[in-house]
Amino acid sequence: HGFMRAGINAAARKGDEQARFFADPGVRRDPYPFYATIRQAAPLVRGRLMWATARHEVAGAVLRDDAFGVGFTDRPLPAPIGLLFRFSRRSSPIGPVDPPSMLVVDPPEHTRYRRLVSRVFTARAIEGLRPRIERTCDELLRDKPADLVADFAALLPVTVIAEILGVPLDMRRQFLAWGNAAAPTLDLGLPFSTYRQTEINIRRVNEWMRGHFARLRREPGDDLLSQLVQLDDLSEQELLATAGLLLAAGFETTVNLLGTGAYLLMRHPEQLAVLRDEPQRWGNAVEETLRFDSPVQVTARVCRREADLAGERIAPGHVVMAMLGGANRDPGVFAEPDTFDVTRANAREHLSFSGGVHYCLGAALARLEGEIGLRMLFERYPGLRLDGEPRRRTTRVLRGFERLPVTI
Ligand code: HEM
Repeated sequence: HGFMRAGINAAARKGDEQARFFADPGVRRDPYPFYATIRQAAPLVRGRLMWATARHEVAGAVLRDDAFGVGFTDRPLPAPIGLLFRFSRRSSPIGPVDPPSMLVVDPPEHTRYRRLVSRVFTARAIEGLRPRIERTCDELLRDKPADLVADFAALLPVTVIAEILGVPLDMRRQFLAWGNAAAPTLDLGLPFSTYRQTEINIRRVNEWMRGHFARLRREPGDDLLSQLVQLDDLSEQELLATAGLLLAAGFETTVNLLGTGAYLLMRHPEQLAVLRDEPQRWGNAVEETLRFDSPVQVTARVCRREADLAGERIAPGHVVMAMLGGANRDPGVFAEPDTFDVTRANAREHLSFSGGVHYCLGAALARLEGEIGLRMLFERYPGLRLDGEPRRRTTRVLRGFERLPVTI
């Protein structure tokens, strides 16, 4: 990863506009002017490292096009991106676990994998979690929060995921620590030491999980993982990858949805007032939060066979970065895209949950947690406001707050 970082920095120094995404601290603080530059330059921009798009139509198209896949590691990539990925492959920056989870495999493997997990991850099962999510929020909000991230946003998703995975209550804190430490694998361009720590933590989670699967096989609970373990169709390795993916994808992103949503509503009291008068709009407020400041800012696809995209001919092995956060501010789709507006009619057209076959499996759950969490937070503490400097996370693919000091 040190090598990868050096490559990215070198490309940025040579004037590669896209590499600035990873190299420039200003872009990390506020990526939106950067996306606007990319979007205005062309529908699809070619850089030294990869292609990139910040247009809604092109980003959506590449995600849906089966000429593009996620299998970064199963075919040689052209230099310099191939070299960078080869050096970074072992700690798998683009996949949260090793063996690969469904997130990093292409059809037909992906189709089978996802179908199996979807058997238990149904809309009904998610809706069934509603009372538990409400109860969890109620418990978490009993003590008044001082830091909204540590005291609320980080705790709700991990508690929900722990329920889904049948993790006993006394393991929850440990789980939060592991999950926090494992999540950076979803990011790119971090220091090597971070990835090393991440690997160690993934190994610890996996060790514990193996014992956990055995327990659930003997004594299944009413959680989703118990059902998955009993299907007997996923190998032990695939179960591990799936549990790891649910843990990382499931809670790191939702923490950011809750933190960013709370931040935006504290900064825009007039929007909060709209929600107070028309609480049926909370669902749309969550969509607008996802659109306005997406928890996952970018994803990438690798070209599997020669393809045309936005008038360009893309060669096999070339990488296209879909800037989801940029697509969400495309003025061709969203009027006044830089305005946060909880009444926006087409907020739901955002690409924050990606698109195509990898469309977020947990989208319904994330929406439910976002809606219940934010609504209950502001109902319980209507006078909630910032009290000190919020601190953003240093990740680039994942965007959100690390600390949100508040007073009620
Ligand atoms: C995939 C975003 C919450 C489980 C994805 C992808 C995105 C995403 C962008 C696809 C990445 C790509 O196409 O390369 C989000 C956001 C969330 C969220 C923004 C919260 C606000 C969750 C939750 C769960 C979850 C709560 C489950 C507990 C998954 C899984 C995949 C996935 C399993 C892989 C699907 C596949 O590869 O077929 N998510 N996610 N996510 N997400 Fe989420």
